[in-house]
Amino acid sequence: MKKILVIHGPNLNLLGAREVDVYGKVTLKEINENLKRLAQRHKVNLRIIQSNHEGEIVELIGKSKGKFSAILINPAAYTHTSVAIRDAISSVPVPCVEVHLSNIYQREEFRHTSLIAPVSKGQVCGFGLMSYILGLEAAIALSKNKT
Ligand code: DQA
Repeated sequence: MKKILVIHGPNLNLLGAREVDVYGKVTLKEINENLKRLAQRHKVNLRIIQSNHEGEIVELIGKSKGKFSAILINPAAYTHTSVAIRDAISSVPVPCVEVHLSNIYQREEFRHTSLIAPVSKGQVCGFGLMSYILGLEAAIALSKNKT
């Protein structure tokens, strides 16, 4: 069975209570339940992790070759700062889909730049939970062409 690595970056563990005007009331648990249901329907396995630590995310991506056929990532604040995560993604032959709950291009200027987008297959942002659903659909489609 195909395996997809799902990475939630820093502070996403606080969803539901964090800046609800921006991110809505959806919790990380609800997001993950939705992703698992979709994965089951498509008969793919998910490994889901949330990390507040850049190095941990870098290591997970670096070890993903041969284990996962796609990566779905919300790099959260690291989107705008992490050359290390960007380099990890471009160092492995595993297609990556970037997602964000909010529309980063409608927000503060520092969020308009994603260091991750140029090394990702594509990006979905602005649709809340639906960004993840659409992102996972894309990751599943990409994984069908990979081992
Ligand atoms: C986010 C957008 C980022 O700018 C922010 O730092 C986050 C969440 C989103 O999902 O909308 O933590 O990635």
